Amino acid sequence: MKIIITGGAGFIGSAIARELVKRKHSVKIIDNLATGRLENLKGIEKRAVFIKGDVRDFSLLKRECSGFDAIFHHAAFISVPQSVAKPLLCADHNINGTRFVLEAARYAQMQGVVFASSCAVYGSQARGTKTGERRSLSPLSPYALSKIVGEQYCQLYTKIYNLPTVVLRYFNVYGPGQNFRDGYQSAIPGLTRKLIKGEKPVIYGTGEQARDFIYIEDVVSANLQAISSLKTTSGKTFNIGSGTATTINRILAIIRKNLSLREIDFQKECIHKEKRDGDADYIRANLSESKTLLGFKPTTSITEGIGKYIDWMKRVAP
Ligand SMILES: NC(=O)c1ccc[n+]([C@@H]2O[C@H](COP(=O)([O-])OP(=O)(O)OC[C@H]3O[C@@H](n4cnc5c(N)ncnc54)[C@H](O)[C@@H]3O)[C@@H](O)[C@H]2O)c1
Repeated sequence: MKIIITGGAGFIGSAIARELVKRKHSVKIIDNLATGRLENLKGIEKRAVFIKGDVRDFSLLKRECSGFDAIFHHAAFISVPQSVAKPLLCADHNINGTRFVLEAARYAQMQGVVFASSCAVYGSQARGTKTGERRSLSPLSPYALSKIVGEQYCQLYTKIYNLPTVVLRYFNVYGPGQNFRDGYQSAIPGLTRKLIKGEKPVIYGTGEQARDFIYIEDVVSANLQAISSLKTTSGKTFNIGSGTATTINRILAIIRKNLSLREIDFQKECIHKEKRDGDADYIRANLSESKTLLGFKPTTSITEGIGKYIDWMKRVAP
């Protein structure tokens, strides 16, 4: 297939690009390099076309999408705390960007669009429960709301224009290629970097908030399953998580064990900061629908995945 990846110089988009190139698809990446990096495309530069461009530029999208079959739409304003600080900018990238991507796909008469949404659409959930796709949505940030609007645009385009779309709600994605520089706020990169450098890790809130962490290779598989099953999955929304919840304190313990560091006193040896705006307390996916309808089956455990991430980080930034 001839496939466009928006945000393809980012963490998840570049991993998808790598796999598609390996499978001999023709790949074009559209990315404004806001948070993405060309070094993420190392090794596939000659086999994937890179266009520096913004998804808010409709004429660029229309031109570049002509003759292509499908889009994996990953370009986005990705920071929850930043979206609280800059709600209009977040809406511009995520809502307008998604509208333009869908319209460009319709214009090019594509076979389908896969939209990278987020578990942030659910807001907080009760501890110990699993969240299914049909649960009511309760955004806690402009980022979460922008993803809900993007999802609804996808469904509308499927309904009124017959453009096949699939929404993937990612939970907390981690793994090799994930940015740990520039004060990146995600838990696993931030904590791993600090511990490798022998610095004090920063914990927001108590550290007992739990997340559903999903390894990058499992997310790439979900995207491939989505594009190959459009006939049966078009118009649907799927949770892409591990189905388990892990606290931040537990993540810290796994990283420490992997690095063979002595046990630390969480209270004394971490920098404790206030819980951040927009952060949910407990997140865990129910995967029944994605397993049954999409054939999604995550295979990498949190301990194994963190091990692979640490190996990668030691290689790229010893
Ligand atoms: N990483 C996660 O845990 C996670 C969880 C839920 C959802 N998502 C979604 O997955 C997608 C990819 O996230 P990621 O973690 O790879 O982040 P990332 O920052 O590594 O990738 C996003 C990419 O989009 C590009 N971009 C941003 N705005 C753009 C614009 N207007 N035009 C063109 N390119 C633009 C950036 O330069 C970057 O390369 C995003 O849509 C994000 O909201 C990620």
